[in-house]
Amino acid sequence: MGKYLSQTQLIESDVRYMDGWIKIRFRQIEPTMPRITFIEFDGTEHTVEGVVGNSLMRAAIDNNVPGIDADCGGECSCATCHVILNDFDYINLGSLSENEDSMLGLNPETTQTSRLSCQITVTEELDGIRVQIPEFQF
Ligand code: FES
Repeated sequence: MGKYLSQTQLIESDVRYMDGWIKIRFRQIEPTMPRITFIEFDGTEHTVEGVVGNSLMRAAIDNNVPGIDADCGGECSCATCHVILNDFDYINLGSLSENEDSMLGLNPETTQTSRLSCQITVTEELDGIRVQIPEFQF
Protein backbone atom coordinates (compact mmCIF):
# COMPACT_ATOMS: atom_id res chain seq x y z
CA MET A 1 0.00 0.00 0.00
CA GLY A 2 1.27 3.42 -0.81
CA LYS A 3 1.29 6.63 1.12
CA TYR A 4 -1.86 8.63 0.64
CA LEU A 5 -1.35 12.36 0.23
CA SER A 6 -4.29 14.69 0.50
CA GLN A 7 -4.21 17.75 -1.70
CA THR A 8 -4.78 21.00 0.10
CA GLN A 9 -5.85 24.33 -1.24
CA LEU A 10 -5.31 27.65 0.48
CA ILE A 11 -8.43 29.79 0.35
CA GLU A 12 -8.54 33.50 1.15
CA SER A 13 -11.74 35.40 1.76
CA ASP A 14 -12.88 38.79 3.03
CA VAL A 15 -15.43 38.56 5.81
CA ARG A 16 -17.46 41.35 7.35
CA TYR A 17 -16.57 41.72 11.02
CA MET A 18 -18.05 44.36 13.31
CA ASP A 19 -17.61 47.71 11.50
CA GLY A 20 -15.18 46.52 8.90
CA TRP A 21 -13.80 43.66 6.91
CA ILE A 22 -11.20 41.12 7.85
CA LYS A 23 -9.32 38.77 5.64
CA ILE A 24 -9.39 35.12 6.62
CA ARG A 25 -7.37 32.27 5.23
CA PHE A 26 -8.12 28.64 5.62
CA ARG A 27 -6.89 25.42 4.20
CA GLN A 28 -9.37 23.19 2.44
CA ILE A 29 -8.48 19.54 2.11
CA GLU A 30 -9.43 18.19 -1.28
CA PRO A 31 -10.57 14.58 -1.08
CA THR A 32 -8.18 12.46 -3.06
CA MET A 33 -9.38 9.10 -4.25
CA PRO A 34 -7.14 6.17 -3.32
CA ARG A 35 -6.08 4.19 -6.38
CA ILE A 36 -6.80 0.47 -6.38
CA THR A 37 -5.55 -2.01 -8.96
CA PHE A 38 -7.60 -5.12 -9.64
CA ILE A 39 -5.73 -7.82 -11.53
CA GLU A 40 -7.74 -10.33 -13.51
CA PHE A 41 -6.74 -13.99 -13.62
CA ASP A 42 -5.14 -13.47 -17.06
CA GLY A 43 -3.05 -10.57 -15.74
CA THR A 44 -5.16 -7.73 -17.13
CA GLU A 45 -4.98 -4.81 -14.73
CA HIS A 46 -7.70 -2.29 -13.93
CA THR A 47 -6.64 0.68 -11.84
CA VAL A 48 -9.61 2.58 -10.44
CA GLU A 49 -10.22 5.26 -7.86
CA GLY A 50 -12.09 4.25 -4.73
CA VAL A 51 -14.17 6.41 -2.45
CA VAL A 52 -12.98 6.56 1.16
CA GLY A 53 -15.59 4.87 3.32
CA ASN A 54 -17.02 2.71 0.54
CA SER A 55 -16.01 -0.89 0.03
CA LEU A 56 -13.34 -2.21 -2.29
CA MET A 57 -16.14 -4.15 -4.01
CA ARG A 58 -18.01 -0.90 -4.66
CA ALA A 59 -14.91 0.57 -6.34
CA ALA A 60 -14.79 -2.45 -8.66
CA ILE A 61 -18.50 -2.43 -9.47
CA ASP A 62 -18.68 1.33 -10.02
CA ASN A 63 -15.81 1.04 -12.49
CA ASN A 64 -17.06 -2.08 -14.31
CA VAL A 65 -14.11 -4.22 -13.29
CA PRO A 66 -14.76 -7.69 -14.72
CA GLY A 67 -14.58 -10.66 -12.37
CA ILE A 68 -16.19 -9.04 -9.33
CA ASP A 69 -19.83 -10.11 -9.42
CA ALA A 70 -21.05 -9.04 -5.96
CA ASP A 71 -24.35 -10.88 -6.31
CA CYS A 72 -25.56 -10.03 -2.80
CA GLY A 73 -24.73 -6.35 -3.13
CA GLY A 74 -22.23 -6.32 -0.28
CA GLU A 75 -24.17 -8.19 2.40
CA CYS A 76 -21.41 -10.76 2.95
CA SER A 77 -23.65 -13.59 1.84
CA CYS A 78 -22.47 -14.65 -1.62
CA ALA A 79 -18.63 -14.59 -1.81
CA THR A 80 -18.71 -13.48 -5.44
CA CYS A 81 -16.55 -10.48 -4.58
CA HIS A 82 -13.60 -12.68 -3.63
CA VAL A 83 -10.15 -11.14 -4.01
CA ILE A 84 -6.68 -12.36 -3.11
CA LEU A 85 -4.24 -10.03 -1.39
CA ASN A 86 -0.49 -10.19 -0.95
CA ASP A 87 0.74 -11.26 2.50
CA PHE A 88 1.59 -7.72 3.62
CA ASP A 89 -1.80 -6.21 2.77
CA TYR A 90 -3.64 -9.22 4.16
CA ILE A 91 -1.99 -8.79 7.55
CA ASN A 92 -2.37 -5.01 7.55
CA LEU A 93 -6.10 -5.13 6.86
CA GLY A 94 -6.74 -6.99 10.09
CA SER A 95 -8.82 -9.99 10.92
CA LEU A 96 -11.91 -11.25 9.14
CA SER A 97 -15.33 -11.32 10.74
CA GLU A 98 -16.77 -14.72 11.56
CA ASN A 99 -19.30 -14.32 8.76
CA GLU A 100 -16.68 -13.43 6.15
CA ASP A 101 -14.54 -16.35 7.25
CA SER A 102 -17.53 -18.70 6.91
CA MET A 103 -18.35 -17.44 3.43
CA LEU A 104 -14.77 -17.86 2.27
CA GLY A 105 -14.79 -21.37 3.72
CA LEU A 106 -17.47 -22.30 1.20
CA ASN A 107 -15.43 -21.05 -1.74
CA PRO A 108 -13.17 -23.65 -3.42
CA GLU A 109 -10.76 -20.97 -4.66
CA THR A 110 -10.07 -19.51 -1.22
CA THR A 111 -6.39 -19.02 -0.42
CA GLN A 112 -4.55 -18.09 2.79
CA THR A 113 -4.81 -14.41 1.87
CA SER A 114 -8.35 -14.31 0.49
CA ARG A 115 -10.85 -11.65 1.45
CA LEU A 116 -14.30 -10.58 0.38
CA SER A 117 -13.87 -7.18 -1.19
CA CYS A 118 -17.24 -6.01 0.14
CA GLN A 119 -15.82 -6.36 3.65
CA ILE A 120 -12.78 -4.16 2.99
CA THR A 121 -13.37 -0.46 3.54
CA VAL A 122 -11.47 1.91 1.30
CA THR A 123 -9.22 4.12 3.39
CA GLU A 124 -6.55 6.63 2.51
CA GLU A 125 -3.92 4.05 3.44
CA LEU A 126 -5.15 1.68 0.71
CA ASP A 127 -3.83 3.98 -2.00
CA GLY A 128 -1.78 1.84 -4.37
CA ILE A 129 -3.13 -1.52 -3.21
CA ARG A 130 -3.11 -4.33 -5.79
CA VAL A 131 -5.57 -7.19 -5.49
CA GLN A 132 -5.87 -10.36 -7.53
CA ILE A 133 -9.22 -11.54 -8.84
CA PRO A 134 -9.60 -15.35 -8.87
CA GLU A 135 -10.36 -17.20 -12.10
CA PHE A 136 -13.92 -17.96 -11.01
CA GLN A 137 -16.35 -16.49 -8.49
CA PHE A 138 -18.56 -18.98 -6.63
S1 FES B 1 -20.80 -8.92 -2.45
FE1 FES B 1 -21.65 -10.76 -1.67
S2 FES B 1 -20.20 -11.37 -0.21
FE2 FES B 1 -19.36 -9.59 -1.03
